[in-house]
Amino acid sequence: MDTRKSLCKSPVIIADREAWAEKDLKHTKTIEVEIGFGSGEYLLRRAAEYPERLFIGIEKKAGMITEVSKRVTCLKLNNIRLLESCAKDAFTDLFPANSISRAYSLFPDPWPKRKHLQYRLFSSEYLRLLNNRLIFGSEALIVTDSEDYCNWMLKQLPDTGFEVENSIIPPQFDTRFERKWLEQNFNTFFRILLKKVRHIET
Ligand SMILES: C[S@@+](CC[C@H](N)C(=O)[O-])C[C@H]1O[C@@H](n2cnc3c(N)ncnc32)[C@H](O)[C@@H]1O
Repeated sequence: MDTRKSLCKSPVIIADREAWAEKDLKHTKTIEVEIGFGSGEYLLRRAAEYPERLFIGIEKKAGMITEVSKRVTCLKLNNIRLLESCAKDAFTDLFPANSISRAYSLFPDPWPKRKHLQYRLFSSEYLRLLNNRLIFGSEALIVTDSEDYCNWMLKQLPDTGFEVENSIIPPQFDTRFERKWLEQNFNTFFRILLKKVRHIET
């Protein structure tokens, strides 16, 4: 039996983006979005903590969507929706301007090789798109293990409409990648907190 097909019928997974945006998105007050949720630990914890909010997890790997959707069902969380997509496409197609209350990405792929820099998600162009979709005054949190990626992101920030606060933080998210780094004795991470202070038209 094709489990993915049967799971696609699950209300947890957004199978029809347009219908979903028309039906659910318009009727929800507070929306939080996690970009690249991986095994979903942080998404699941936040959704359990804030049952009145809607949580949308965006992840490009189908296997992660399947794994996390099973956990959402087991935990009986009815305020999570999972979207199998590249985050850029999801933000472009699915969310209107000024619709997201909080966004976060924990340990986004750092693409350390120079020839792969083009694949880094938080480019200036993407930050402008993210700004457009966030509500004025709301925040986006990015945490990375890579100092190089952190510095690169800071250079992308001018003209993206965000005020930035960056700091070095101890482990605190208990995700698969945070645990992986801890096992390798990395005990500090780079946190970038963005606050939308100006609206960017895209
Ligand atoms: C290094 S893992 C971190 C996973 C999780 N946040 C954690 O802390 O364990 C990065 C995740 O982002 C996902 N990802 C990478 N690029 C993406 C994109 N453009 N859109 C959506 N997800 C993406 C990957 O599939 C992977 O699951």
